[in-house]
Amino acid sequence: MNTAPQTRVAVAVVTGASSGIGKSVAKALVMRGWRVIGVGRDAARCAAAAAELRALTADAQVEMIRADLSLLSEAARAARDIAARSDRIDVLVNNAGGVGKQLVMTAEGNEATFAGNHLGPFVLTRCLLPLLRKTAAVSAPGAVRILATSSEGHRYCPGMDWDDLQHTRNFTTGGAYTSAKLANVLFTIELAKRLAGDGIVAHAMEPGVVLDSNFVNHADDSMQRYMATQDDRAVSSDDAAKTLVYLATAEEPGHGSGGYYRECQPLAAAAPALDAAAAARLWRESETLAARAGIAFTDPE
Ligand SMILES: NC(=O)c1ccc[n+]([C@@H]2O[C@H](COP(=O)([O-])OP(=O)(O)OC[C@H]3O[C@@H](n4cnc5c(N)ncnc54)[C@H](OP(=O)(O)O)[C@@H]3O)[C@@H](O)[C@H]2O)c1
Repeated sequence: MNTAPQTRVAVAVVTGASSGIGKSVAKALVMRGWRVIGVGRDAARCAAAAAELRALTADAQVEMIRADLSLLSEAARAARDIAARSDRIDVLVNNAGGVGKQLVMTAEGNEATFAGNHLGPFVLTRCLLPLLRKTAAVSAPGAVRILATSSEGHRYCPGMDWDDLQHTRNFTTGGAYTSAKLANVLFTIELAKRLAGDGIVAHAMEPGVVLDSNFVNHADDSMQRYMATQDDRAVSSDDAAKTLVYLATAEEPGHGSGGYYRECQPLAAAAPALDAAAAARLWRESETLAARAGIAFTDPE
């Protein structure tokens, strides 16, 4: 077991906890006695999820924070809100995301799929690193973890397009999504490298085809048609969440970092997702885009 919970109640931040896989992760951790700080976007779904999670046990510790992570200012504000509520984070689950119906540019000038799936989680994670490092300093090596819900869809992206990183010139919903999911794995391997000295591990995972979440409802017609053909291999949100819960709580994932998992087993990610130079460049490009939104980071390089 992850050794972090032994002295204090372990704290998980779970993004996308208002629905689907993230809500299932939150439920499983609450049932294990963890305090869960969920991040969600839609107000009604956040309220319903908070009520459902609090009803799980008599002493459930659940808070929900609302933030649209496609806005970097909101991601930074959510991080401040989390840091004001808790003096530790044992596990950060960057799960929020999905595919859109069309090209949407945010008020900050970013493409919403890239921003919601990668840039916002990048900002949230960077802003929470001081708290994660503080927790790691009083925890066993490997106990503090940063997890990402990626997708096998990352295999459809041949590599980050540095000339059109946000796919705004040649936009397709699927192209933007698969690139953002590739970014999830690249960010994970860069985190693993940078945080090795702190004893913090980072892993990405893919949940499988999940049809009982809201994913399909946010997607465009072509993705909806594709997902409808995948019914025979679909898994439930609760089953998909098992890999994230395993990565959060089991001992084995604490012994390595930078992994990519499916069904609680390591899996080889596609070659472009393992490109260390691309991972380093994505970090720098993301930092530049964050700076454009007025966000500076205090964590050491
Ligand atoms: N379903 C699948 O087959 C599948 C396959 C591979 C990967 N995934 C990935 O799994 C993750 C979870 O998806 P799911 O299937 O559980 O779908 P879901 O039910 O739609 O859950 C997505 C969660 O993320 C939140 N979210 C999305 N965009 C956000 C944003 N910009 N800011 C803040 N929160 C945001 C949603 O909030 P709202 O409640 O406000 O919408 C919701 O809580 C996603 O990263 C998705 O890409 C899913």
